[in-house]
This record gives sequence, structure tokens and C-alpha cells, in this order.
Amino acid sequence: MSFSILSTGRALPKTVLTNEELCSFVDTTDEWIRSRTGIGQRHICMEESLTDLAAEAARRAMASAGVGAGDLDLILCATISSDYITPSHAGTVQEAIGASCPAFDVSAACPGFLFALDVADGYFARGRAKRILVIAAEAMSRLMDWRDRSTCVLFGDGAGAVVLGPGEGLRSLSIRTQGRTNVLYVPAARGNLPGRAQGPESYAVMDGQEVFKFAVTAMCRGLRGSIRDAGLSEADIDWVLPHQANMRIIEFAMSKMKIPPERFLINIERLANTSAACIPILLDESREQGKLKKGDLLAMCAFGAGLTSASAVIRWEID
Ligand code: UT7
Repeated sequence: MSFSILSTGRALPKTVLTNEELCSFVDTTDEWIRSRTGIGQRHICMEESLTDLAAEAARRAMASAGVGAGDLDLILCATISSDYITPSHAGTVQEAIGASCPAFDVSAACPGFLFALDVADGYFARGRAKRILVIAAEAMSRLMDWRDRSTCVLFGDGAGAVVLGPGEGLRSLSIRTQGRTNVLYVPAARGNLPGRAQGPESYAVMDGQEVFKFAVTAMCRGLRGSIRDAGLSEADIDWVLPHQANMRIIEFAMSKMKIPPERFLINIERLANTSAACIPILLDESREQGKLKKGDLLAMCAFGAGLTSASAVIRWEID
């Protein structure tokens, strides 16, 4: 026995930046962004800290599960854009929600939420926890060079959270890392070592076409592998939750998988790529829209810097 998802929550920053608004300070067009990515707008943190967002998502998930801060045995946060390098994001959220259990971060870029679920799986399997809060929260806007049109148009900010409890919901989960730093990275911030020039500015750098090639393969292989590992066929899957990086990557997966396109859940037009937060936000939105029914089989897949990828099949256990 491992875990089931008991509840979900999400939070988005108030500020919405549309493609049209972006065009006022970046050399791009709404037509280019929509046709190459499917993105129409993104939310960005102008007033909120990432801790504010993550704590709001966490509180919503905890209220929906009827779980208090004192009931939590572990808090895991997936993020690459924390408010602090140290303490961990999980630590700042723990303080914000008044919990006292162990709390630490998982850094695995866009598939970070699924990597964190894998860590949680180990805690449940060892009988070390009854309630785990998993949060994925990203302020990608902080990592962007807003003069670089090849990256800044792609990402958005947001947070999603789930409360997990012991159960049979997890059917398969697989995580992968292929050490390839040069295609997508953000250099670390540097101190001012005496006598040395200041280090490089810290912005996301990406070879979009290389990531694209990796993504289309990772998406289809990951989904097929996790469906097979769960002892299922593609026809059994009720909903696919793909990483929301580019509509063309999702459409490629739709064309290759034997799963009807209408079973792919998509919110990229409104939210862009919120990195690790994409899948838990999509889960919470889909739950709120009444799409997910108890017993539904959900296939999830994400890819990102590392290069990392991860996929899972989870049975929805919420009424
Ligand atoms: O979570 C993982 C994160 N990353 C990804 O998943 C990214 C995967 N890659 C992609 O989604 C796509 O490769 C991009 C959307 C990043 C780029 O699309 P593309 O079709 O691969 O475009 P490209 O890089 O081949 O660029 C085509 C042209 C270039 O101009 P020239 O050299 O043909 O004159 C770019 O300079 O489009 C230009 N361009 C833009 N033009 C207007 C690049 N960005 C923009 C822009 N607005 N924002």
C-alpha cells in the first residue's frame, strides 16, 4: 500500500500579463506566441512572495481534506524558484501554515511534483507517515531575462498542493534524470569573492529546439511506460495531465497515443508553463470543474531541466 490523493488546492498571483502587454516591452507578437506555444497569458508574482502562494495552495488543500497543521507528518515542496536559497521553501511554508513536522524541498525542475510524489511514496511504504503535504510552487518570472523573447514568453507563476494519505491510488510512478546541463539551466547567484569579477547574471538559458526534441520523446515514452507499469492499456486512461510547456508538444503526444485528444487536460492558454506547479494546478482546476470522478485513472507526465522526466498513473479516490 502506498498513497491516495485526499485533496487538492491551488493559488495564482493576482497580476495577469497578456501577450499583448508583453509586446510593449519584448520584441514579439501575440500571433507568434499563440501559434508556436498555445500561450495567451500568464500570472506573475508582482506583490506575492512564493511562500504566500504556496501557503495559500496548502491551506486550501488542507481545509478540503479536513487536515490541520498538527496532523501533517511531512511537507515536501517541489520548486526551483524559492524565496530563499536557504532555508528551504518547505521550511518557509511550514512556518506560514504553523506546522512542525519535517519539511524539505525537491529540486527536479518541471517534473518536480512527480519526483516529490516518489519521495512521499517511500515514506508511506516505510510506514513513516499518515499525512503528507506535497506542494509545487514556482515564481518562474524571477528566473527570466525579460529582454530574452525566446524564454520569457513561455513561463508563468503559480502553486498547487495535494494532501496524501495511505491508500491504493498510486498505480505506477517513474522518475528519470539524464545529466545534460547545457540545454536548459539557470546559473547560481554568486557572492562577491575578493579580487574576482562578479559572476554571471542569473537568468534561465534554453536551447528551445533541443528541449522540444527531448520533450516529445519523453512525453510519449513516459506515458506509455507508466500505463504499462500499472498493468493498464491506453484505452483505460480517463484523463491525461501533460506538462504544460508547449501546446505543440501536447498535440504531438495526442497524435501518437491511443487516447482521445479530449481526455488531455489543458490550461496552457491561461497559465503558461508554471514548471513543477503545472500538474497539481491542473488537478485542482479539473477537480473544481467536476471533471474527475472517483475511480478515474489519471496519467501524468512532465519533463524539464536536468534533463529530467517523470510519469505516473494515479487512480482518483475523491468522491
Ligand atoms: O518545461 C520545459 C521548458 N521548455 C520547453 O518545453 C521548451 C521547448 N521548446 C519550445 O517550446 C520551442 O522550441 C520554443 C517555443 C521555445 C521555440 O519555438 P520554435 O518553433 O522552436 O522556434 P525557434 O527557436 O526555431 O525560432 C524560430 C524563430 C527565430 O527567428 P529566425 O532565426 O528564424 O529569424 C527566433 O528568433 O522565431 C524567433 N523567435 C521569436 N519571434 C517572436 C523566438 N522567440 C520569439 C518570440 N517572438 N517570442
